[in-house]
This record gives sequence, C-alpha cells and structure tokens, in this order.
Amino acid sequence: MANLSNVWTKLTGLEIASGEGSWLTTTSGERYLDFVAGIAVNSSGHSHPKVVEAIANQAARGLHLQVNMFTHDLLQPLADKLDEITPAGIDTFFFTNSGAEVTEAAVKLAKQATGRPNTIVFQGSFHGRTHMAMAMTTSKTIYRAGYAPLPSGIFVAPFPDVHADDIDAEVTKALDGFDVLLETNTAPSETACVIVEPVLGEGGYVPAPPGFLEGIDARCKEHGILFVADEVQSGAGRTAKMWAIDHYDVRPDVICMAKGIASGFPFAALGARKELDDKWTPGSHGGTYGGNPMACAAALATIEILTADGFLDDVQARGDQLTAGLRQLQADRGGIANIRQLGLMVAADFVDAATASAVVKHAFDESNVILMTTGRAGVAVRFMPPLTVSEDEIDLALRALDKALVSI
Ligand SMILES: Cc1ncc(COP(=O)(O)O)c(C=O)c1O
Repeated sequence: MANLSNVWTKLTGLEIASGEGSWLTTTSGERYLDFVAGIAVNSSGHSHPKVVEAIANQAARGLHLQVNMFTHDLLQPLADKLDEITPAGIDTFFFTNSGAEVTEAAVKLAKQATGRPNTIVFQGSFHGRTHMAMAMTTSKTIYRAGYAPLPSGIFVAPFPDVHADDIDAEVTKALDGFDVLLETNTAPSETACVIVEPVLGEGGYVPAPPGFLEGIDARCKEHGILFVADEVQSGAGRTAKMWAIDHYDVRPDVICMAKGIASGFPFAALGARKELDDKWTPGSHGGTYGGNPMACAAALATIEILTADGFLDDVQARGDQLTAGLRQLQADRGGIANIRQLGLMVAADFVDAATASAVVKHAFDESNVILMTTGRAGVAVRFMPPLTVSEDEIDLALRALDKALVSI
C-alpha cells in the first residue's frame, strides 16, 4: 500500500464521503457541522448547486484552455466582475491557483513596477508556503524552520496589540516602528511594497485597529511604496463586506484574492492598477493553469452568490449572532478571555491553550462540530463557517461550545 505524505498534519481522522451546505457526511454516514469550511474556503457552502452547475457546464466545454495559447470566453467576464467588486482603481487582473502563488505574484509585480527590491510585512502575518511567501510569514516558526536560506529583502514591521489598554497609543507605537524600519533597514527608495492582511488570519483572527492601516497607507503614498492587501483569507465576503480592506479608509494598489472567491475550486486572482501592470514585463511571470476555465466558472458563480441582494447583510447578521452568543458564554461560563469579530471572521481567545484545544476536542467528539484554533499561542479558536450558514446552525455550534465549557 502506498503512503500519503507525512508532511500533512491531520486535525481530524474523518473520512469524508460528501458535503452539502454547512455539513459533511463521513464514509460511515455520520454528519458533522463544518465551522472550518476548508480553512475559510467553502464560502458558498459545500457543493453549492450554482457552483457545481457552472463547473460541470464548463467541464463539458473544456477542462483546460491555456491562457498563453488562447483567450477563452470566461476570462473577460471574470475580469469585468472583479473590476466591479474590487476597490476603486483596481482594474487589471492576473489569475493563478493558490494563495501563496498570488502573494508571490504581488511581490514580483511590485518589484518590476517600482524598480525597487524590498518588501515590508507585518509581525504575525501568514502569506503562504513557497520560499518567498515563507520569508514573508511570521505567524509561527513551524512555517519556516528547517527551510533556510529564505529569500532576502523582507523586513518585518510591528502589528499593534489590539488588546492593549490604550489602543491609540499602541497604533502610534506600531506606526513609529514602521517609520524606524524605513529609517534604519529599508529606505523608501529601496522598498517596493508593503503586504498586509487587514485581518491577521493564521496570526489569530486579529482585525487591524482603526487608524493603523490608514497610517501605513499614508506612508506608502508619501514614499511611492505599493500597498498590497492580502485578502486571501479575509476577502470574498468573509467580513460581511466584499473585502476586509473596505472596512478601512485606504486605497490599495494591489489586492490578493484566493480561498473563498471560487468556493473551493483552486483559483486566485491578483488585482492591480493598470499603470502598474503595464510595467510588468510580458512573459516574466505566468503559469500553466492560471485562468483555468473551470476555475473561472467557479469564481463567476461564487461572485454571483456573494453579490446577491442581502447576502452580505446576512453574513453580518450571522457574525453578530455568533459573537453575541460567545459573549453570553463568556459571561455565563467564563473561560473566554477575548472575542474578536469582523463580519463572519470571528475568534474567541480562551484563557489558555489547554482550554482552547479541550473545547475544540469536546465540540468535535460530543457534538460533531468541527472547529480549529489559530494564532501563535494556541489560545484562539476561529469560527469560519460557510457564509451561507443558517441561524439554526450558528445556534447548534454555540450549544456545542456551551456543553464543552460546562464539561471540561
Ligand atoms: C492571508 C493568507 N495569504 C496566503 C495564504 C496562502 O494560501 P494557500 O494555502 O492557498 O497557498 C493563506 C493561507 O492560509 C492566507 O491565509
């Protein structure tokens, strides 16, 4: 019998036969409520009929129509749709397959568009697992250990502690740290871009506090440094706006999209301003599968679902319901230190890592609810159900947490 690689960690031993909506069914017929959604990927739930139909229709017309060879008939419609839903000024799109590939692409574009070598990232961020993306990742040492040497030219700026007593002072301190970096490590004339997750994902589901991204953006505009928003995890409606960056008063030059944008079909898109993309040397970047027509079909169908009337209002309502329930549990049962929310990107910090993992285990073993931790310290449990999750399903998850907190 052949082996599956040892490099994959396994968070559950489940063998899944199928998925529908927020539910997974195992090969032995047990049902599980999925509040991980493929790590914030199954935005429209498992196997949404519209997405399935779009992929099937496209599969019958062509599985792979390579974009260097041909222009297939979904490329332009998808670019037009992305133009409609991305921040003002972003009007030019490159397609690829995964989050790491799109953050790599962002840095390659930024280097050629500015003629500058360096990139600034923020403490606690995660940008992927390729060598450049690893070098840009500081959410946990496991992602980098044993892989040196990593590419150079990456500088790490502070991200504010959002639970500091004086949050304004904390934001000022982090912005001062950014200024120091520009004065001592990477001069503006050497700095191509900053790449930032508006909500740290693997770093603990931490929304940037008010004023921080605005301060970074102002510095970028002053120095001609490109502002790249990594919306791989926080984008595609997860925060109840199309992009997490839409919650802030900033003008990104480049935006990285993946995960939820195609409901689980491997697809990622880089959005940029045309004058930047015009400086990206044709042929100096690309990829065999980028712009795959089935991926484009999945993305178009997903965007139709996300942009339906009232959809994002429902996402906000479910996020509010979940957060209110968590606050009630915090008051009634204790064990929860902090709760963070932006739309349906919700996290609860438990008092210690042992409590967090006991809660996840109890919810799984006793209530068939799938949860996952995030962050360096292991205290945060993140909630990232499909965006189509129902009111009853949120209640079910909250009841599972209540049972866990009473029993552990
Ligand atoms: C913000 C962010 N960027 C990039 C990535 C990398 O995405 P992928 O795993 O598709 O390469 C992730 C994955 O979790 C992510 O959360």
